[in-house]
Amino acid sequence: MKFFIDTANLDQIREAQDLGVLDGVTTNPSLMAKEGITGRNNILKHYVDICNIVDGDVSAEVIATDFDGIVKEGEQLADLHEQIVVKVPMIKEGIKAIKYFTDKGIRTNCTLVFSAGQALLAAKAGATYVSPFIGRLDDISTDGLNLIAEIRLIYDNYGFETEILAASIRHTMHVLECAKIGADVMTGPLSSIEGLLKHPLTDIGLEKFLADYKKGN
Ligand code: G3P
Repeated sequence: MKFFIDTANLDQIREAQDLGVLDGVTTNPSLMAKEGITGRNNILKHYVDICNIVDGDVSAEVIATDFDGIVKEGEQLADLHEQIVVKVPMIKEGIKAIKYFTDKGIRTNCTLVFSAGQALLAAKAGATYVSPFIGRLDDISTDGLNLIAEIRLIYDNYGFETEILAASIRHTMHVLECAKIGADVMTGPLSSIEGLLKHPLTDIGLEKFLADYKKGN
């Protein structure tokens, strides 16, 4: 399972990278705005800064919603850095653009996916990643993890190579459940990754080991 961090915050990206288990970064316009990154040039520079911190894929989202606009923006993003994956919304023009990018060898992440049908379409268009938003489904009393399981089943039935990128992960249990289902990638906040570290028996055990060592030395 690949671990991506879902943020545009450079400090958190560095911290996750330092942990040694980071495989990539996802961003979106809201996450960029949260960091105060505005204006086209600043946004493009920020993507390059992120690429220079991490070793893996960095999803950069288009703003355009028409085919020509998505293609123009996506090609500009892809030219920025070899690690960039063009993030395209799950809309009709987006699917057409994903097919276009696939044919040109440009990698894509189909975002804002909330149903198995949408995920099937993204795979048919050749998306590199599909991003089902599980937390936002949970928010409206719909089982987000069930969507991951449905997509896993469909992709395995036909051998689709599109990777399931479980997005809108909110906590550590989402990560674990996605791992059990077989999501290829998770993207979430740093806390969802660091939460995997925690167990009280580890802390208690370590404290005792160190205390016992001190007794004899
Ligand atoms: O990767 C998608 C993600 O950024 C959405 O997360 O928490 O805003 O639903 P959230």
